[in-house]
Amino acid sequence: MSKKNMKGIILAGGSGTRLLPLTKVTSKQLLPIYDRPMIHYPLETLRKAGIIDILFIVAPDHAGDFLKYLGSGKEFNCHFSYEIQDKAQGIAQAFQIGEDFIADDNVTLILGDNLFEDDFTQAIQSFESGGRIFAKKVSDPERFGVVEFDQDNRATSIEEKPGHPKSDYCVTGLYIYDDTVVDKVRKLDFSDRGELEITDLNNLYLNEGTLDVAFVKGAWFDTGTFESMFAATEFAREKSFKNK
Ligand code: DAU
Repeated sequence: MSKKNMKGIILAGGSGTRLLPLTKVTSKQLLPIYDRPMIHYPLETLRKAGIIDILFIVAPDHAGDFLKYLGSGKEFNCHFSYEIQDKAQGIAQAFQIGEDFIADDNVTLILGDNLFEDDFTQAIQSFESGGRIFAKKVSDPERFGVVEFDQDNRATSIEEKPGHPKSDYCVTGLYIYDDTVVDKVRKLDFSDRGELEITDLNNLYLNEGTLDVAFVKGAWFDTGTFESMFAATEFAREKSFKNK
């Protein structure tokens, strides 16, 4: 059997209420991180790993601005598609919205507000089936999905924003899945906060024994707060000076 194609989805919806008043006039993922709009960074992460067929999922309010900045993808040597997420009903909903786009290929999802220093080329190119997620040690795991490991470093559970985190390792916003993802999302129920949870999806793969948990190298930012946006800006600025 020949290896499947890898497609990319960048999820850039949501209302960005934590970043008000900045998000009153534009989308969170178009706000600047140093000299680029936030969305530029996850796009580069996918591009670096060789993904060129990319679907952007955006909220209705600022869809035109995304199109203006990103266009057809030609400028980035990629092919871009767009879908609207009417309401922010969960990260896992991306696979319902992207069902036709995914078809029977593998897919890498990245959150439009996640900035990674790491290069995922090897992890993405070597992927065959199941699911692969990326953990990172953090000082505030209760803000995230948290992975618990056994003594052999095998993941045993994942909990979304637990009151009492079982480890300091959070799940970052880059997820690789095979084409069973669409069927798996169909099995999910909406959570108490009204979302199709990415953590519930990861637990389906985990319980099936097909979830690989890798670790993120280098810096990682979830730029959903003023403080993390500021830290990511400082990081991007330093990187840019080093590369000059
Ligand atoms: O950043 C990693 C974390 O992302 C994970 O550790 C958590 O397991 C995962 O639930 C998520 O947590 P957040 O609290 O950061 O999720 P948030 O609701 O802020 O959504 C993350 C991004 O995805 C945000 O830029 C908006 C976008 N989004 C979110 C939802 C729920 C959408 O475009 N549509 C949605 O329906």
